[in-house]
Amino acid sequence: MNISIVGTGYVGLVSGVCLAEQGHDVICVDVDASKVERINAAIPPIHENGLAELLAKACGGNFRATTDLRTAVMGSELSMVAVGTPFDGEEIDLQYIRAAAWQIGQILRDKTSYHVVVVKSTVVPGTTTDVVLPLLEEASGKKAGADFGVGMNPEFLREGEAVQDFLLPDRIVIGGIDKRTLDVIASIYQPFEGVDILRTDPRTAEMIKYTANSLLATMISFSNEIGKLCAAVPEVDATEVMRGVHLDKRLSPILPNGSRVIPSFTTYLEAGCGFGGSCFPKDVKALIAHGHKLGLAMDLLDSVIRVNDAQPQCMLDLLGRHFPDLRDLPVAVLGVAFKPGTDDIRESPALPVIHGLLEGGAHVSAFDPIARREAEKHFGKNAVRFADSLEEAVTGTMAVLLITRWPEFDKLPQLLAAMEDAPLFIDGRRAIPRHAVPRYEGIGIGPAERPAHPLP
Ligand SMILES: NC(=O)c1ccc[n+]([C@@H]2O[C@H](COP(=O)([O-])OP(=O)(O)OC[C@H]3O[C@@H](n4cnc5c(N)ncnc54)[C@H](O)[C@@H]3O)[C@@H](O)[C@H]2O)c1
Repeated sequence: MNISIVGTGYVGLVSGVCLAEQGHDVICVDVDASKVERINAAIPPIHENGLAELLAKACGGNFRATTDLRTAVMGSELSMVAVGTPFDGEEIDLQYIRAAAWQIGQILRDKTSYHVVVVKSTVVPGTTTDVVLPLLEEASGKKAGADFGVGMNPEFLREGEAVQDFLLPDRIVIGGIDKRTLDVIASIYQPFEGVDILRTDPRTAEMIKYTANSLLATMISFSNEIGKLCAAVPEVDATEVMRGVHLDKRLSPILPNGSRVIPSFTTYLEAGCGFGGSCFPKDVKALIAHGHKLGLAMDLLDSVIRVNDAQPQCMLDLLGRHFPDLRDLPVAVLGVAFKPGTDDIRESPALPVIHGLLEGGAHVSAFDPIARREAEKHFGKNAVRFADSLEEAVTGTMAVLLITRWPEFDKLPQLLAAMEDAPLFIDGRRAIPRHAVPRYEGIGIGPAERPAHPLP
């Protein structure tokens, strides 16, 4: 199928390249001309495992990018909208969705053949039918259902694993205003044999995406609340507690041969310095705001955000136990990306931690294997010293704060043990065994001066 995709961010670009890999003819549109230029030169503007290879393969073949929306829509049968949907402090900000819908609608005015418009961005329930559809009708002067179809197809990819997630999806959710729309959207996914496809209405599709993200965010904040409690109870370590919880056979089923399935969602049931990224924080907040609009209290999800907002401060509190005065203290921050495998630093807990350190007067060095460019854009090159290696970042520091669980940090025990004056190590992800480094503090355990019994 000829497909146009509006917005070439994490979702738009990955979807575009992967749909081209599946044999579709794809044209990606963005208002950012520099992005378009890079993409057409087969240079991905974002870091995603496997993306560069697929882009290089597709570029010049059945995939290209443009700033010319008209040509893209006129030359395709289906347009996917994958623009940003930020939280504006009070509610979801639909300005990019509205603009894209209006622009596509104006082009549909001149189109004689049937066209389907699919919202791929994460939008609150009702947006596709109550905002996008009327804008398309008004701008095109045509009738949804008769002249064009409107659908909602949420994206579940995880940054860092986005290509893999798109090509090997666990589910495909399609919401459509009518059967014709659903059939057209489903036909894109024909190559994905054996994958569960849920056909529904647009509102339910929108709600599924928010519910999935809110559940995972809730699991994280639940674990962090338990982590705080564990830290206040003598001798209790949240990591050990959660390991015991994970062994519940309803969470990690035991197969007939006696082996266990450890589902990846147990990683959401671990204490840490909080969730970030471009989805969980803004999506949970947007859902809360939507619930409030409908007259609901949204108490649980309110707490999920409150608990999460407090987590970065836990890292600073752990540091403050040892260094009440941060002035001129040399501190290393390891990891700026909100999770490993990505260069995305949006809403990363590293940001409030680094800002807190700088406000306290600390000298901050930082190291991130991939997100350095994004971090330098955020902090500038002078406030934070960005190191070229892990070794360089930790050398000469008095404290090291681990924020992102990059596998590159697994060698920290050897590195810290070899240092003459080992710095205090504060583990925001419980990534390093607590007895493997000379001076350890971590989320979910009490003060270090308390006797710690090594596990047998
Ligand atoms: N990032 C993720 O992991 C992820 C996963 C699932 C769903 N989502 C959702 O997908 C949507 C997109 O997220 P993202 O992270 O890819 O966003 P992004 O900010 O990385 O990219 C959005 C792109 O859209 C472009 N754009 C904005 N208005 C445009 C217009 N009128 N015409 C053409 N291009 C336009 C911007 O220039 C930008 O390149 C959001 O709703 C997000 O919540 C994101």
